[in-house]
Amino acid sequence: MSHWVTTASMKVSVTWPRSRNSRARTGPYTGYGGPEVLTVSQVAAPEPGPGQLRIRVRAAAVNPIDVRIRAGMMQGVFPVDFPMVPGWDVAGVVDEVGEGAAFSVGEEVFGVATVGGYSEYALLDRPFAKPRELSFETAAAMITVGEAAYRALEHLGVREGQTLLIHGAGGSVGTVAVQLASARGITVVGTVAEEDIERVTGLGAVAVRYGDGWLERVRAAAPDGVDAVFDASGAGVLPDSVALVGDADKVITIADPAAARHGVLFTGTDPADRFPQALPQLAHLIAAGRLDLPLWRTYPLAEPHRPTQPWKPAATAATAATAAKSSSSPDAVTDHRFFSAEGSSTARTTRAR
Ligand SMILES: NC(=O)c1ccc[n+]([C@@H]2O[C@H](COP(=O)([O-])OP(=O)(O)OC[C@H]3O[C@@H](n4cnc5c(N)ncnc54)[C@H](OP(=O)(O)O)[C@@H]3O)[C@@H](O)[C@H]2O)c1
Repeated sequence: MSHWVTTASMKVSVTWPRSRNSRARTGPYTGYGGPEVLTVSQVAAPEPGPGQLRIRVRAAAVNPIDVRIRAGMMQGVFPVDFPMVPGWDVAGVVDEVGEGAAFSVGEEVFGVATVGGYSEYALLDRPFAKPRELSFETAAAMITVGEAAYRALEHLGVREGQTLLIHGAGGSVGTVAVQLASARGITVVGTVAEEDIERVTGLGAVAVRYGDGWLERVRAAAPDGVDAVFDASGAGVLPDSVALVGDADKVITIADPAAARHGVLFTGTDPADRFPQALPQLAHLIAAGRLDLPLWRTYPLAEPHRPTQPWKPAATAATAATAAKSSSSPDAVTDHRFFSAEGSSTARTTRAR
């Protein structure tokens, strides 16, 4: 069984029954559009080439980029050949190995799929061993999110004793970035939705509400100034952020395409500008309980419309200890019921962006 998984904001996974032959189920779309364009179809299971692994996908993440690509919003950057199977970040069990591959059949791994991850099978060029303590859902959900957070901090070079402002600190990437920065002895101020203030404060940040007046709230929260800014919101905050720190080189964004206009580095478009080597470390931090990556929801592939419904961290879904964390066990997903990992019901999202 496998399923797609959501992190704090939007990561989804799929459940599959065991395949009886070399055909594989997959979740493509054949034209741009809303969630209704997602389908389920059968294709030949991919064969691993030299050095590659084929895995039975147990969980695949849905990131905001997957939804934007499907909606046709990224045609200039990610032109799509239809049918398109979305999803890159996967976790599963090695099913077949290509010549010279570094893993064996039966091992649990995670990584970035060479082809669409919302599939029964996926090929991995660069797999990482999944710690046993880490769920397949979390392993898949942490890939894009964790790497982006790690990368932004590396680029900024912010050090112990300095103050970092994170826009979108309540989102998936922001949630990880807050914790990584705090663990490095950096003072973190985060802009968040009102309902995320308590949760993000609990992660170690001084959380202030995003939106109009954020600059004044941040100045009040960091009276000695801010040394660097990480924009994980794409919410048009770059000009004021540059003004806040007085140097565009001290601001970075993963989400605002207007970055260049403000002299700010946009990171993420160049595959060479990635830190996959951070993923094993992040996986072990999560497995050891030292890094919290809340899951929002999980979904079976048979309900592909769900991941693209309005999303929002399910901060009200569970108990305080599990705020924003709501994942499903594979069996629960099979039953098309949704439970948090701790058995609490999962809240529906209430607001779209
Ligand atoms: N370039 C890269 O390498 C890379 C990698 C990963 C992600 N990304 C992009 O980075 C962004 C964040 O990804 P994610 O997975 O963390 O998404 P996410 O979970 O949706 O987080 C975005 C967060 O920003 C918050 N937000 C909305 N408006 C804001 C505002 N005006 N000021 C501050 N925060 C605001 C959202 O709050 P609400 O929920 O209340 O709206 C949400 O908590 C997405 O655009 C994603 O596509 C880029």
